[in-house]
Amino acid sequence: MSIVYLEQHRLFDIRTARSSYVFGINEKGTVQHLYWGAPVEAADCAELLRGRHHSSFDADVDRETEEYGGWSGCHYAEPGLKVTFADGVRDVRLSCEGFEISGENELVLRLKDDHYELRVDVRYKVMAEHDLIERHVRVTNGEALPVRIEQVMAAIWSVQRLPAYRLTHVTGRWAGEFQLRRTVLSEGKKTLESRRGFTGPHANPWFALDDGGAGEEAGDVWFGALGWSGNWKIVAEKTTFGHVRIAGGVNDFDGAFELAPGESYTSPVFVGGFTAGGFGEMSRLLHRYEREHVLPTRKLRKVLYNSWEATEFAVTAEGQKALARQAARLGVERFVVDDGWFGQRHSDRAGLGDWYVNPEKFPNGLKELIDEVKSLGMEFGLWVEPESVNPDSELYRQHPEWTYQFPTRTGTQLRNQLLLNLGLPEVKRFVLDFMTDLLSTHDIRFIKWDMNRTVTEPGALPLEDHSGESVWLRHVWHLYEIWAELRARFPHVEFETCAGGGSRIDLGMLRFADQAWISDNTDARDRLAIQEGFSYAYAPAVMMCWVTESPHGFNGRSLPLSYRFHSAMMGGLGIGADIGKWSDAEIAEAAGYVALYKQIRPLVLEGDFYRLKPLGSGPEPGRSNVAAYQYVGRDGKEAVAFVFLHSQHFGAETRHLPLRGLDPEAAYEVQAGEAEPAVRRGSTLLRLGVPLELRGDYKSMLIRLRKLP
Ligand code: GLA
Repeated sequence: MSIVYLEQHRLFDIRTARSSYVFGINEKGTVQHLYWGAPVEAADCAELLRGRHHSSFDADVDRETEEYGGWSGCHYAEPGLKVTFADGVRDVRLSCEGFEISGENELVLRLKDDHYELRVDVRYKVMAEHDLIERHVRVTNGEALPVRIEQVMAAIWSVQRLPAYRLTHVTGRWAGEFQLRRTVLSEGKKTLESRRGFTGPHANPWFALDDGGAGEEAGDVWFGALGWSGNWKIVAEKTTFGHVRIAGGVNDFDGAFELAPGESYTSPVFVGGFTAGGFGEMSRLLHRYEREHVLPTRKLRKVLYNSWEATEFAVTAEGQKALARQAARLGVERFVVDDGWFGQRHSDRAGLGDWYVNPEKFPNGLKELIDEVKSLGMEFGLWVEPESVNPDSELYRQHPEWTYQFPTRTGTQLRNQLLLNLGLPEVKRFVLDFMTDLLSTHDIRFIKWDMNRTVTEPGALPLEDHSGESVWLRHVWHLYEIWAELRARFPHVEFETCAGGGSRIDLGMLRFADQAWISDNTDARDRLAIQEGFSYAYAPAVMMCWVTESPHGFNGRSLPLSYRFHSAMMGGLGIGADIGKWSDAEIAEAAGYVALYKQIRPLVLEGDFYRLKPLGSGPEPGRSNVAAYQYVGRDGKEAVAFVFLHSQHFGAETRHLPLRGLDPEAAYEVQAGEAEPAVRRGSTLLRLGVPLELRGDYKSMLIRLRKLP
């Protein structure tokens, strides 16, 4: 049993394989968080349930550790819920009316306001084998009048009794997503958030907390990830009484909405976990959870070719067919036409919104190209950006009122485009209809769904008709509904989430997307840092990486094909180079890497991932000279590691790379780069490591291991 109620102590004892999570109901009926961490005897936590009062300035200190509290009385911390009732009362006092434990792993706490018919169900789903707990809330208005919801967090996580608290998170920007940051929390709040209408590259809804001493392989780490693809916030608050609470949910900024009588609001899911196994184990727990419980399917990513960097908007049937023939020679399995195939889309200035096949570019429609792609043994995929519109488009000329706008303002154009108000039922219908038409009239097996700008002027006209709504919420709800509907109508189609690179990746989107485009930056060296940051919270199973040209247009950096392939083989492999210009020798070399990738693909996409030598932890963070990553198959029989040497200095040194996740007693056949295979003991590989013959600049190698019977 993962969840037990200890009647005598009024305590809830949530157990995962390697953690305890304990809270209880105090004599006032409020639910108090008591303990989260390595396993303890829950009954021993009973004494922590007593009220705490410090002074008239800090009365009811225990409200800081309420499991889920409303803004009321002496609750001064970031609240779970803040509302205004129809009579003007702005105080929500929640106490526990009851609870239900269902099955092995689900608990609902039933909270109710002491006076009003406002109910909050606080829900827990325990993923015992992953040491994770999914939490979310459902708020129901049983009043006869609307209630204004001003803040509703999905969950509040409490971490107590650490001598210090260090927060790990990611930040970034376009082409520089998922950069790891670590900061010691002092008293006050640190907010990670998006107010831009989508998940955003500037922060990602994931956090990790430790006492400053945890490493990759060991140390207590508390962590969580929120599944919301619109405006979100995660507030890490350290109180002056020395504990940290992490509140997370849909961002309350500009986010108030009305809950009509009888209506309910369900928050996104905020999953949280604890491990004593350091940041590495944290990532492996999240990766397994994503593969087993979040992602819509468990298919392995196909090797794809995407024509964007080769052609940009200059898409033609003949040009694409030529690229497809080259792609087939490489061993590509999925050929994807990116932007530029539709409407009058010759640049980013026009055509977005007009989802008909451009007749000059494809005089015989898309079918001709699709047939050619299929005859070459590949499947066909297509790029769309359904939420956007260029003012220079037929769609905008017909429906200017479908865009976000305020009457006295000129809409901000970003990349020459506006955003459609997907929250409007007619816009949702339009998107569903054109996508259904596209997918039912063509043999399309893959959709890359993009969104290339942030939300601005989030109004819907006439304004007075929309006063009780949250446009922010409706956009995301409709987006999810459209993806769910399309997946149901077209189960054979796989979907990629993309937003100008990696700006819409979170556990909400990953319930619908098979894979994620994590950055428009395809410089293989920059990519290592981006991929590494991504790996803290998200699985290699969804991480799409392309091999592109050298020198690379973004940084002007030249990198050997081997390095570019090794970097891109760390997730779902794609090729985005202008392969029409590649020589036969380059094609042959690349085809060799693609064939090798197909052999190791199940390990990379479904194995356990180890950051052996992360870039982010070198002497100068982000500038470490060697980066190494390992994947171990779930059955432990095979493993693969990638090693990257940034630059050689001061002569050769003998390097050894200690590996992880191996059986110390077993013997392994080790194939390190081009060297002859050797047999080594697991204990040697774990402690002494694999000798590395790696010299020069931008050198890389792949190490394969096979456990001998
Ligand atoms: C975004 C995507 C790119 C590409 C372009 C097309 O930037 O991230 O991969 O699809 O749009 O306009």
